[in-house]
Amino acid sequence: MSGIAIFGITGRMGQTLVRALRERGPAQPLRLVGALASPRSVRLGSDAASEGAPTGVMVTADPRAALRDAAVAVDFSLPQCIADNARACMAARVPLLVGATGFDGATREVLDAAAAVIPVLIAPNTSMGVNLVARLVKLATRALGPGYDVEISEAHHRMKRDAPSGTALALGEIVARARGREFKDVAVFERHGGLAPRRTGDIGFAVLRAGDIVGDHTVTFAVAGERVEITHRATDRTTFARGALRGAEWLAGRPPGLYAMDDVIGL
Ligand SMILES: NC(=O)c1ccc[n+]([C@@H]2O[C@H](COP(=O)([O-])OP(=O)(O)OC[C@H]3O[C@@H](n4cnc5c(N)ncnc54)[C@H](OP(=O)(O)O)[C@@H]3O)[C@@H](O)[C@H]2O)c1
Repeated sequence: MSGIAIFGITGRMGQTLVRALRERGPAQPLRLVGALASPRSVRLGSDAASEGAPTGVMVTADPRAALRDAAVAVDFSLPQCIADNARACMAARVPLLVGATGFDGATREVLDAAAAVIPVLIAPNTSMGVNLVARLVKLATRALGPGYDVEISEAHHRMKRDAPSGTALALGEIVARARGREFKDVAVFERHGGLAPRRTGDIGFAVLRAGDIVGDHTVTFAVAGERVEITHRATDRTTFARGALRGAEWLAGRPPGLYAMDDVIGL
């Protein structure tokens, strides 16, 4: 059985991962061995599970302690912590799945450097369904051609910090790449006050934040006379947790390198 460390243990995803590990029962190959929160966390020193049966693992703010017995780590903390967490994984030689989203270019550089030393799986969306949707979007972009307008809309709960979601951005990058365009040249995040019509080739983003929406994404391909919409709706965070555990199992023991959920699913 392999030890797993969870970064961001006290958060929505951290606790969903604890429940998903519990649901899998004693025969499952991963065992919680490390639970990391911030130095300001009110849960430091308490059990990693905030409800239900205790795990026997205490919440710590020390990444080295969280990684001591870990064969793999998953990071569902906040974007500003990812670089430090990745450095700790590098030092401890522990493979890392990055589930947290919204990190900047400097953090991405740290992850790229870490991937020379440990396996790093960057997974802005760990649901199997979304990763299938990503494939379908690539297929649709190629099949429909550059004449179709592409718009990406997403909806999430009111507490989500980054916008558009990491998944929406990743879907936009897939479209841009399939068209041979630079994402930064075609992504449109703001239209308010604009007076010009839509530019051909642009990829527009629309964001909704409300209530407890777990995560919806729609990629629309439209041309005069027809519209193709590819939609994924997550109704329960467990879908992300199950995918993350599957990714973590796959990652433990891999050679150093940069991986994506596509590699896990084998699409
Ligand atoms: N990949 C996917 O499929 C997927 C799915 C859902 C969400 N996400 C992403 O996962 C991230 C977390 O989402 P969430 O909804 O669970 O957020 P959340 O509920 O706000 O949880 C984040 C947790 O990170 C902890 N934290 C803050 N600083 C930390 C540090 N330095 N080290 C370790 N932990 C730290 C906080 O705990 P304390 O305050 O107790 O320290 C907080 O509970 C977001 O970036 C979100 O977009 C990804």
